[in-house]
Amino acid sequence: MIPARWISAPVGTSRWRTAGGAAKLKEKPAIAVVVGEPVVSEKILASGQFDELLRPILDRYCRDAGLLVEILRETQNVLGYLPAGALTVIAKAVGTPRARVEGVAGFYSFFHLEPVGRYRVLFSDNITDRMLGSAELLDRLCNKLWVERGKVSEDGLVSVDTTSCTGMCDQGPALLVNGRAMTRMSAERIGRIGELIRAQVPMSEWPNEYFLVEDNIRRRDTLLNSNWQEGEALKAAIARGAEGMLAEMKLSNLRGRGGAGFTTHIKWESARRAAVHGERSARYVVCNADEGEPGTFKDRVLLTSYADLLFDGMSVAGFTIGATKGLLYLRGEYAYLLPQLEENLRNRRADGLLGNAVCGVAGLTFDIEIRLGAGAYVCGEETALLESLEGKRGVPRIRPPFPVTAGYLGQPTVVNNVETLCKAALIAVKGGAWFAGLGTKQSTGTKLLSISGDVEVPGIYEYPFGVSVEQVLNDCGAGNAQAVQISGPSGICLATHEFSRRIAFEDVPTAGAFMVFGAHRDMFEVARNFAHFFAHESCGFCTPCRVGTSLVANCMDKIGNGQGSPYEINEIFKIHRLLHVASHCGLGQAACNALFDTLHKFRPAYERRLRSLDFEPAFDLDEALAGARRMTGRDDPGAHFGLAARVSGGDA
Ligand SMILES: Cc1cc2nc3c(=O)[nH]c(=O)nc-3n(C[C@H](O)[C@H](O)[C@H](O)COP(=O)(O)O)c2cc1C
Ligand code: SF4
Repeated sequence: MIPARWISAPVGTSRWRTAGGAAKLKEKPAIAVVVGEPVVSEKILASGQFDELLRPILDRYCRDAGLLVEILRETQNVLGYLPAGALTVIAKAVGTPRARVEGVAGFYSFFHLEPVGRYRVLFSDNITDRMLGSAELLDRLCNKLWVERGKVSEDGLVSVDTTSCTGMCDQGPALLVNGRAMTRMSAERIGRIGELIRAQVPMSEWPNEYFLVEDNIRRRDTLLNSNWQEGEALKAAIARGAEGMLAEMKLSNLRGRGGAGFTTHIKWESARRAAVHGERSARYVVCNADEGEPGTFKDRVLLTSYADLLFDGMSVAGFTIGATKGLLYLRGEYAYLLPQLEENLRNRRADGLLGNAVCGVAGLTFDIEIRLGAGAYVCGEETALLESLEGKRGVPRIRPPFPVTAGYLGQPTVVNNVETLCKAALIAVKGGAWFAGLGTKQSTGTKLLSISGDVEVPGIYEYPFGVSVEQVLNDCGAGNAQAVQISGPSGICLATHEFSRRIAFEDVPTAGAFMVFGAHRDMFEVARNFAHFFAHESCGFCTPCRVGTSLVANCMDKIGNGQGSPYEINEIFKIHRLLHVASHCGLGQAACNALFDTLHKFRPAYERRLRSLDFEPAFDLDEALAGARRMTGRDDPGAHFGLAARVSGGDA
C-alpha cells in the first residue's frame, strides 16, 4: 500500500511573465521538486480517474503545451510516475496529440511511464564515481534491499539504477534519491541508507550531512575573487548604453565558456539587430545551466555562490540585446538549488532589478524565469535546449536559422553558458579592455576548471587562459598522472608527453572538465565508460549516431570481455569517421573522440584484451551453414564458407 503522503521540498513561488504581455505579471506555481513518496493512493492510481487530480496542475500552467515538461514533472510528483490515463488527460487539456505527449514523456530519463520505486536511487555513473567505488556501492545497496539493479522491488518500495554524471565529481561517489543529490557515499553511508529505506523513513529525516554539496573552490582569480554588489553590473551597463555595452563586449573578445568558444559580442549583436516577429514578438536571453558534460561542475558552484553575478549577467545581456525575458535552464540534477535561486530572483524583484522599470528606467522591462531539465545530456546543445523550453523532445534543430534570429518561440534569442554570463557582468563593470588584458590574445580572460579524478585536492580552479596542463596538475596534486581528459568525454585526452600544452582556444579548448587518471588506471575502461555514456545519451534522431554509438559501445564490451580482435578496433575507427561527417549535432560528432585518442595514445590497454592480433570474426559463418549442408546433403568445398575460394586460389 502506498502511504498517502509525500515529503516535498517547499520551493516558494516566483513571479513570471505570461506569454500575452510584458506588463502582466502573474503568480506562477513554484516548480515542485518531489522529495519523497507520491501523494496519491494505489486506489486512485488503479481507478485511472485523473481529471480532478490534475486539474490544479493544468490550471496553474494555463494548459499551455509550451509548458508540457513542467506539467509532466508535477504530474509525476503527484502520481509517482506517468500512467497512460494521465497522459491522455494532459494531451486533451493542452490540445496536443496524445502521441506527442507520450513522445515527450518518453524522451527524458527522469520521467517514468511505468511505476518506479517509492525511493528511486540513481547512482552517478561517471568514470570518476566509478574510480571511487560507485559500482561496488550499488551492488551493496541492491543486496541490502534485495532488489535487482534496474528493477522495482516486489513491494514497490525501491528501485536502484545508474544515471549519467550528476555533476558532483569533486565529492563522489554521488547519487540521487528521488531527485535529491547526495554526496561522498561510503559503505557505511550506503548501509545506513538501506536501513532508512527499509524503515520507510521520510527523506526529510535523513542525516543532513548526506545532502551536503560543497563548493570546493581551490584557486580564485578575477571571477571568483570579485567583489560586486547586487545590480552593479546592470547599472554599469545601463550607464554605458546598449551600443556602448556592445562595444565593450567587442573589446573584451569574450568567447563562450560552454564549449564551442563562439565570440559572445557577435551573438549579442546579431540578436539585437535581428527582427522580432508575430504576436509574441520579443527577444530572449537563455542561460544554459544544463552542465551535463561528465566531469564538469563549475556552473554548479557559480549557481550556488555567484547567482547574483549570473542574474546580473543575464540582465546585462537582456538590456544589451533588448530582451524582455530571461530563461535559466537548470539541469534536473541541480533541482536542490531551486529554492535558493527563486529566493534570489524574488529579492531582485523587490530591489527593482527585475520586472518593470528596471533600475527605475521607464520602459525597461526584464524578468527571469527558471525551468528545470529532466535528465537529457543532449539538452545542453543550445537548439535542443530551446526545444525542451518549448515543451518538446530535446532534439537539436537544423541550423540555420540560428537561435540569434529564430530561437525560443521563433524569436531572436541569445543562448549563453553560466560562466560566459558571469564574465559579461564583470565586463560591464570593469570594461572590455581590462578583460582583454587577461589570458592570451585569442583566449581572453580566465577559465574555471572542474578538477576531479586522481588528484589530492579536487574542486574548482580558476586560471587565466594560457596556463599549462602541467601547472594545473602540480596545483591540484596529481603526482602520477598518465592522462588528463579535458572537456569531458567529448573533449581531448592528453598523455604525459602533452602536459606542456596550454588551456586556451588556440591549443586545448575546454568547457571546464579536467579529469585526471593516475598511472594505475586502465584507460580502456575509461574509454568504455565514455562509449556507454554516448550510446545512452544519443537522442536517436539521426541513424549514424543512434546506431553508431551503440555499435561502438558493443565493440568496447566485446573487447573488454576478451572476445575482441583488430576487427573491432577498425570498426571503431570507421564509425568515428562516419559520426564526424554524418551526425546531425555535436553529440554524435564527438562521441568517439575519447576512443580515438586512447586508441592512439594508450593502445596497449586495448591490445592486451584482444583474443588475437589477427582478424577474429565475431560469428562463425561456416558453422552456421552446417544445418543447410545437412539438409541439402552437401559437404563439398563449394558448400563451405571460404573453402571454395581457397581451393580455387582466390580470396575468400
Ligand atoms: C551535446 C552537447 C551538449 C552541450 N552541453 C552544454 C552544456 O551543458 N552547457 C553549455 O553551456 N553548453 C553546452 N553545449 C554547447 C551549447 O550548444 C552552446 O554552444 C552554448 O550553450 C553557448 O553558450 P556560450 O557561447 O556561452 O558557450 C553543448 C553542446 C552539445 C553539442
Ligand atoms: S547526433 Fe545524436 S544526439 Fe545529435 S541529433 Fe543525431 S542522434 Fe541526436
